[in-house]
Amino acid sequence: MENGKKFRRIGVLTSGGDAPGMNAAYRAVVRAGLDKGIEVVALYGGYRGLVESDFKVISRRCEVSNIINLAGTCIYTDRCTGFATEPGMQKALVTLKENNIEGIVAIGGDGTFRGATDLASRGIPTIGIPGTIDNDITATDYTIGFGSAVDITMKMIDSLRATSESHARCCVVEVMGRHAGHIALRTAVACGAFAVAVPEFEFDEEKVIKDMIEARAAGKRGFVIIVSEGCVGYGEKLTKTIEEKTGITTRFICPAHIQRGGDPTADDRIIASEMGSRAIDELIRGNSDIVITLRKNQLGTMNIKDALNVDRMFKGKMTPEEKAALTPDQNAWMQARCDEVLSDMKRLYDLVYEIR
Ligand code: F6P
Repeated sequence: MENGKKFRRIGVLTSGGDAPGMNAAYRAVVRAGLDKGIEVVALYGGYRGLVESDFKVISRRCEVSNIINLAGTCIYTDRCTGFATEPGMQKALVTLKENNIEGIVAIGGDGTFRGATDLASRGIPTIGIPGTIDNDITATDYTIGFGSAVDITMKMIDSLRATSESHARCCVVEVMGRHAGHIALRTAVACGAFAVAVPEFEFDEEKVIKDMIEARAAGKRGFVIIVSEGCVGYGEKLTKTIEEKTGITTRFICPAHIQRGGDPTADDRIIASEMGSRAIDELIRGNSDIVITLRKNQLGTMNIKDALNVDRMFKGKMTPEEKAALTPDQNAWMQARCDEVLSDMKRLYDLVYEIR
């Protein structure tokens, strides 16, 4: 692709919770940029790097060698609250101007995209790449890091299964995902969990306990139950209830940040590489204020404000005024998208109970 809109130098940052595959995305942005004659500036610690002028100019491909396979993010990350203030934004704009940084690729979740759209509204060409283990960006089927986190969590639960079976115990495992049950659902299917609780669907506690008692009577020794952290505090409460009502010794396990720390899977590296390269193409095409999406295995783009809106609709956070401001087409599309995501989640939820 030709350098249609001429960029001499752009910045790249990773922001919010780190996710396996962020390094692969960063590497792809740097190398695709250099390939098109664009110098790339690595901003350290997400938006903090912009606010505090903390960055490094990357002008050689070898400066991002040997990172595609690494977990975490080697340009660091932060949940920089300073950037969300007007003085913080002003400092960021000065960093951009003084250092001739003409565009930004921001890798992260919804908080990262709010920052990106703010920059775009100040005239800075900005592209978002979805990178979070939570997979909670409704506009895309997939966020970088999700598959790796599911894989890591699955492997930990495989180890718990062995000890649960040996001791004839139940373990209730609280998995990450913030307000969303995606990690819980996929992990539950992959681990053959006995039950899963996620914020999106009603959890029939009484039935699960009755089924556990029956299963134990029929000879089942170990039980694995997965609870999403989005069901705030429920995992510990359920642990006590199960022990009281079934008499089965039950342990509560919270693997927490270990879920974020493993090596990126092949899929995460590949998707991150594709999205990084696409972000550079979009900048060159003159596009801004968009997020790269992956739906039905096809890369695409969506306006960041629309992506944030469809998220708000999915999470039931959209006010009647915000809804009224949508065009009928936007409203229909967003509603259909929310239904599609929810029905995909429901399919997995039902599958857990069908084949346990
Ligand atoms: O967004 C990724 C995530 O790991 C969530 O699953 C979790 O709720 C949150 O970040 C934890 O945040 P922190 O790393 O700031 O403790």
